[in-house]
Amino acid sequence: ERGGYAHFMLKEIMEQPDVWGDCLLGRIHEDQVVPKEIGLTPELLTRVKRIQIVAAGTAYHAGLIGKSLIERLARVPVNVDVASEFRYAHPILDKDTMVIAISQSGETADTLACLRMAREQGVFTYSITNTVGSTVARESDAVAYTLAGPEIAVASTKAYTTQILVLTLLALALAQVHGNPRPDLVRRMLQLPLLGHKVLDRMNQGIESMAQRLAKTHDVFYIGRGLDYALAMEGQLKIKEISYLHAEAYAAGELKHGTLALIEEGTPVVAIVTEREVADKTVSNILEVKARGAEVWGIVDDWLPSTLPIDHRIAVPIEEPLLAPVLAAIPLQLLAYYTAVARGHDVDQPRNLAKSVTVE
Ligand code: M6R
Repeated sequence: ERGGYAHFMLKEIMEQPDVWGDCLLGRIHEDQVVPKEIGLTPELLTRVKRIQIVAAGTAYHAGLIGKSLIERLARVPVNVDVASEFRYAHPILDKDTMVIAISQSGETADTLACLRMAREQGVFTYSITNTVGSTVARESDAVAYTLAGPEIAVASTKAYTTQILVLTLLALALAQVHGNPRPDLVRRMLQLPLLGHKVLDRMNQGIESMAQRLAKTHDVFYIGRGLDYALAMEGQLKIKEISYLHAEAYAAGELKHGTLALIEEGTPVVAIVTEREVADKTVSNILEVKARGAEVWGIVDDWLPSTLPIDHRIAVPIEEPLLAPVLAAIPLQLLAYYTAVARGHDVDQPRNLAKSVTVE
């Protein structure tokens, strides 16, 4: 059942490039996103003036990536909220807003409650889910399936990266109707499965021993800027969830505003650098933590000089920074996976957690 892999989580990580192919299949035609293949129409897309994303856990982190892509590519403003907060926050919704629920299972109680609240207020609802016929799918006005296949491990991996792909397609579809088509990016999306395989082939070398080192530590910091900050949040959740290490994600620029005080000799820091626009800024943050003795695991764009003082360098072939998140997610997942294995944990069934949170 696990296809020869030690755990479902590893199988699901390794499946990603192929699953991305399934997720993209038929949704792109002649360098354009086909709106109806993601459950929408050009008319609906044109009507959207604002987007509110609601989700929990990993799906929330996918939402943060979605916000950045939609705002950058289509210039449509997006809010992202944790569903358990949003439902009690007396949110302001209007008729020009589209509410997007992201949920692998389609059964998360808080996410579903937000969706129902939006519908009661007559707001258009759209869901991005992996589960055909799930409650979230049935109760939304429109649905896009992530088509990742069943995800068994509690820690979400392939569902997360396919959520990002659907959000990228949505961002590009919105950009099309708002007069900013990006055929170059649409075309590049089709190369992601190939690049994903390339990343996986490379990762077999070294990441396991880097994780063995991480497994011996206690508190890990994840830093990044922009999309890399959203990835840092997912990386820290993944490692907490299965390795039980204490981990925190920080916007790299926030370090100086307090957290830097925690960095001492040997403090582990995972730095993510795929956003070229702000790479030099994150690099100076890396130098700052190094100067205070941090041990740095760097998940970086190939293009970043190998002379940087990164103790454990994990280079990823990022040809297009806007499409980097799914590729950079792979080493984050593998780092968490091998750290948990090294600590002897039940990777697929972490303590205290359930795959689907159907109660509040
Ligand atoms: O099924 P959902 O996507 O709604 O689940 C949301 C979270 O419970 C889920 O992503 C959780 O954070 C994962 N176990 C993280 O790996």
